[in-house]
This record gives sequence, C-alpha cells and structure tokens, in this order.
Amino acid sequence: MADKRILVTGSVGQIGSELTMELRRRYGNDNVIATGRKTPPSDELKNSGPFHFIDVSDAETVSKMVREYDIGTIYHLAAILSAVGEANPSLAWQVNMGGLFNVLEVSREHGCAVFVPSSIGAFGPSTPVDNTPQLTIQRPTSMYGVTKVAGELLCDYYFEKFGVDTRGLRYPGIISNVTLPGGGTTDYAVEIYYEAIKHGKYTCFLGAGTSLDMMYMPDCVSSAIDLMTADPAKLRFRNAYNVTGMSFDPEMIAAEIRKHIPGFEMDYEVDPVRQAIADSWPNSMDDSAAREDWGWDPKFDLVAMTVDMLEVLGKKHADGQL
Ligand SMILES: NC(=O)c1ccc[n+]([C@@H]2O[C@H](COP(=O)([O-])OP(=O)(O)OC[C@H]3O[C@@H](n4cnc5c(N)ncnc54)[C@H](O)[C@@H]3O)[C@@H](O)[C@H]2O)c1
Repeated sequence: MADKRILVTGSVGQIGSELTMELRRRYGNDNVIATGRKTPPSDELKNSGPFHFIDVSDAETVSKMVREYDIGTIYHLAAILSAVGEANPSLAWQVNMGGLFNVLEVSREHGCAVFVPSSIGAFGPSTPVDNTPQLTIQRPTSMYGVTKVAGELLCDYYFEKFGVDTRGLRYPGIISNVTLPGGGTTDYAVEIYYEAIKHGKYTCFLGAGTSLDMMYMPDCVSSAIDLMTADPAKLRFRNAYNVTGMSFDPEMIAAEIRKHIPGFEMDYEVDPVRQAIADSWPNSMDDSAAREDWGWDPKFDLVAMTVDMLEVLGKKHADGQL
C-alpha cells in the first residue's frame, strides 16, 4: 500500500465499524481516518485513531479531509439503505448520488483510489433471478437501486474518462454481530440471530420462500480489501463485481438455528414494502468474474456463519451486552 492515508466514510455503520478496525490493524491506526455523520462512534473506533463528523453531500467537508490527511484511498460507505430510501427517496438521492459525486470529484483532483459498494439492489424484476450474471439487465424499482445503478455507471465514467481507480462490489445482505444494520431489506437475517438468542423466537418481515444472497461480515471486510489491493491490470469491471457468500430463504436460516436452539420458533408478519424490494432482487448471483479476476473465495457458508453468530451473540447475552 502506498504511503498515503485511507479515508473511510460511513465508518460508524454496519460495515464501516468493522472494516475501519481491520484497515487500522493492517495499515496502522493513524493512517486510517474514520468519518461519520451524526451517530456517535464506538469507544473502540473513536479511541483507536482519527475520527471526524462530515456530510458527504457537502463537497467541502469531503475535500477538507482528503487535503488535511493526504488521502490516497477512500472507502466510501456512507449511504442511505433500501428500506430507509423508500421512506425518504429524496434523501437517498441526495446522499447516495451527491455523496458519491463529491467523492469521485475529489478523487479526480487528488488522485485517490475509491472503493464503492454497490448492491444486489442494483438489479430489478426484469433481471434473471437465478445465477444472476455479472453483465445483465439492471432496471431496479427502488430509489436505492436507482442510485446504485447510477453509482456503478458513475464509477465506470470516472475510470474511463479521468483514470480514477474506481473499484466496487455488488454486496448481498451482510450479516454481522457488532453494529446493527442500517435499514435494509436483508436485515431480517441479522435480527433473527439476535432474537433467537434473546427470546427464542422471531417474527420475520419477509415471507417464506424469499431467497436472497447473503454474506458474513468477515468475508465482506476481506472482499473489500482484497479488491482494493488486487492487480489493476486484472480488473475487467470498474463499476462493481457480483460477490456472494451464500443464498437462503427464512426457513433455511431458521432450520439452521434450530440445530443449536431446538425450541426456536419463527412466524411471519410480512412488510409489503420490503417484500416488494426482496421480490425484485436475485435469488442467487453468479460471482465467477470476481473469483477469476481477483481471487474472491468466501470462507463462510450458512452452517459456519450460524455457529459463529450464535457463539458470539450468546457470549454477549451472557455478559449482559444484548
Ligand atoms: N449492509 C448491507 O447488507 C449492504 C448490502 C449491500 C450494499 N451495502 C452498501 O454498503 C455501504 C455501507 O452499508 P452499511 O450497511 O454499513 O450502512 P449503514 O446504514 O449501517 O451505514 C451507513 C452510514 O452512512 C452514514 N451516512 C448517512 N448519510 C450520510 C451523510 N450525508 N454523510 C456522511 N455519512 C452519512 C450513516 O450515518 C451510517 O452510519 C452502503 O453503500 C450500502 O448501500 C450494504
């Protein structure tokens, strides 16, 4: 890695809180500048290195960070997620598009490399749902999806036109046990573990049979860093690569939990907004391009992830942290 520093936007969020700490472990605490919007950072994040509040939709606050800290790489995680975006589409547009535009512009001016997560939300009802190809129809029906497709195109544009080193991943639902998710459609797959540990039962907001791609946080974090350290000559895609760790529906995850908590019960109270979003997303993605180009190789499947999630959350519960 070059001698320049790393800036993380959205570092207080579900992915940022864990990715930032891993970047600090790898590259040194003072070389990774964490930023958030309003949510107070954890003590770990605040005390381990520089932390600032910025608004990514305000170009000057982003530019100031890049200039002050001599930033070489930006992990741009600040965004409004799918369910929140449907409730407030104009905010989703302002943050997701305005923020990305500001990050790409400052990267053009200062020669930064940029990591931008796209999402399975960049697909829509006319996309093939099984083994969804890397290159396929992208006509999403949520504002979140619209911003993710436009964001992918913007990354392509800045790479082709200005030579900005843009790299991205189409993340599936991310499952983790440090920071709760920020209002997405796949949040049920995180909540189900917390509720299983706390109450032995869960009411699922997606219906039975809703299959979606998912990934466990350790794979999410390593995929971002692996992509950013990959040989640029091998990268065929500068918008975003399909990546997935597993694909399951609510019954499958409940059955896996029951192997450890036999009395676990699940019922359904379907949220029509999130169900409509989930129905427009793939059942399972083809991530062979990521495997071929930069060696994507996830470590966790549903079985291994469930063991780890229940162990970590079980300990937290026993310690009174849940
Ligand atoms: N978590 C998932 O399941 C998932 C799946 C696919 C893609 N992604 C993408 O990964 C990225 C990170 O997602 P996450 O799950 O960590 O989201 P999150 O909601 O947990 O965190 C996003 C952070 O962005 C911050 N933010 C919002 N508006 C801001 C603004 N104007 N200025 C600065 N910061 C602002 C929020 O405070 C929040 O902490 C997003 O681009 C998201 O679309 C996430």
